[in-house]
Amino acid sequence: MAEEIQTILEANALYHVYESKAEDGNVVALRGLHVKVKPGEAVAVVGPSGSGKSTLLKCLGGLMKPSAGNVSLDGRNMTRLTGQELVLLRQKTISFIFQEGNLLPHLSAVDNVAQPLRHQNVSPKEAKQRAMDLLTELGMGHRAQGLPAALSGGEQQRVAIARALITNPTLILADEPTGALDPITSREVLALFKNLHEEKGVAFLIVTHSAEVAAFCDRSLELRDGRFVAQHGADFEVHDLAESRELIVDDIGTVAFPPDILLQMGGSGRYEVEDVGDGRLVLVSAEESESLLVGGKTLAASCPACNHEYGDDETQRCPDCGSSRPMI
Ligand SMILES: Nc1ncnc2c1ncn2[C@@H]1O[C@H](COP(=O)(O)OP(=O)(O)OP(=O)(O)O)[C@@H](O)[C@H]1O
Ligand SMILES: [Mg+2]
Repeated sequence: MAEEIQTILEANALYHVYESKAEDGNVVALRGLHVKVKPGEAVAVVGPSGSGKSTLLKCLGGLMKPSAGNVSLDGRNMTRLTGQELVLLRQKTISFIFQEGNLLPHLSAVDNVAQPLRHQNVSPKEAKQRAMDLLTELGMGHRAQGLPAALSGGEQQRVAIARALITNPTLILADEPTGALDPITSREVLALFKNLHEEKGVAFLIVTHSAEVAAFCDRSLELRDGRFVAQHGADFEVHDLAESRELIVDDIGTVAFPPDILLQMGGSGRYEVEDVGDGRLVLVSAEESESLLVGGKTLAASCPACNHEYGDDETQRCPDCGSSRPMI
């Protein structure tokens, strides 16, 4: 029997467009992403502001329906489930941790932590006991009766983590979970994540700007303009993305070179494939005098993301949605 590669989370050809009637028009936030997360794996998503990280996380977690593409959670295609089935699958498998605003303001810490169990046929008494145990484990037992507003940022985030853990998720999706914390608290939170990852085999997908968080992950995916442009191993510096990178070639053979690499290659233009083999591709710049834009014939006539018609325009970036113009 062929060994199946198991994934806890898988997304194929994920696109998302925020529709808007405003003057600046629709925003294409995700442009055809493929993601696979194995059980127990920790993956970071890094990239500049506005590159689509939060949008990706929401689509992967079923909080938002992508415009196109599909997402499978634990082997089940979420896009095909009914509302109720989706809610159940999500509750059983995923927990979310956001930068802030994870807690219900009118409930005490312990009630916040116990709340997700209400949907899971657990008696209120048992739910409260489990919540209390978890808070104690996270060093928050003495603050269990406090309302969120009376807790410090770090304490609130620990309560949020307890709340995320109470359902024993196999996957945690976190959006800048340490972004609002001071360095010491942020280290504590990271230590908790590490423990869950190593001891309990919980998988993580973490959007982060923090080098420490990225270093904790097994690999980091670099998002730029709604596309993955590179993958990095655990030992890279978040502030130095140009180092130690792998480029990602998608299913249709597209590779988006990060701008700094493109610059080193000599910029956009025509390249000849001099040699191919065994994961190796040698590109050599074609004759310099020959322009990429000869007659506009080599560039796509319309934008694949928003269908903008370029007409005679030779621009390489879509004026409506900002997508790079592909060559055909
Ligand atoms: N509700 C929305 N309506 C319209 N456009 C949106 C909406 N939410 C996000 N966008 C746009 O989609 C793009 C991706 O946004 P997203 O929030 O996913 O970025 P991000 O990588 O999480 O950025 P940051 O690091 O600042 O949190 C941006 O251009 C943003 O302006
Ligand atoms: Mg964001």
